[in-house]
Amino acid sequence: MTQQRTPFVGGNWKMNTNASQGISLIDALQDGLKGDLVEVTVYPPFVYLREIAARCEGSDMLIGAQDCWHEPCGAFTGEISTGMLKDCPVQSVLTGHSERRHVIGETDELVNLKTKAALADGLVTVLCVGETLEQRENGQTDAVNESQIRAGLAGVGKDELDKVVIAYEPVWAIGTGKTATPDDAQDAHANIRALIAQMYDQRASEAIRIIYGGSMKPGNANELMAMPDIDGGLIGGASLTAEDFLAIVQAGATQAV
Ligand code: 13P
Repeated sequence: MTQQRTPFVGGNWKMNTNASQGISLIDALQDGLKGDLVEVTVYPPFVYLREIAARCEGSDMLIGAQDCWHEPCGAFTGEISTGMLKDCPVQSVLTGHSERRHVIGETDELVNLKTKAALADGLVTVLCVGETLEQRENGQTDAVNESQIRAGLAGVGKDELDKVVIAYEPVWAIGTGKTATPDDAQDAHANIRALIAQMYDQRASEAIRIIYGGSMKPGNANELMAMPDIDGGLIGGASLTAEDFLAIVQAGATQAV
């Protein structure tokens, strides 16, 4: 990555950990963070956010939620608003994660509503995009990324883009142990950056962070993050082990200097 973008490393715990495991993990992460020039955010399950946020008060670690709802309050059983998240407090939220799109069935329109609500509430919003294996085999990677980004950012102004991070997470690489090659991931990231230039302008495209997710591990994080348009990672499985996650943060730190 280029030096002017601060690397971003996110740990998406998904539906993992119980209360005591979550606390042990966050304590170990805080102990291991070295104040490097990397923005580190962990995304624990909703029910642990408050306790974990309290434990991270005053530390460099930022806390985020894995999802949100776009209305501020009302009859939306089971949902959590961005205002409630800010109460925890959290600083960030994921929108459009592939498991929400492909397992839960979220549409581009819903992802867009959530993205706009999160940005309106000042949360750093990590918009996740990426193609399925079938789409990749049909040569549709860039087209899928483009349509998910155009739809996800519809109505998002240039002045809000500094709070947006785009996570390119090829669906076939998530939790499978298969990773995009650094060159393939770089191609997708460069095309996403060019798209942001088209949608906004050159300056916005140079400033926005585009991170890679999909079986990123300590063993491949360095070579992925060394690519010019890969500004960090969104980590699933490897974020559940402090040692592995910290090693990935370290890989990000190497790119920051
Ligand atoms: P894995 O790192 O387990 O492949 O998950 C990636 C991911 O979905 C992060 O959001």
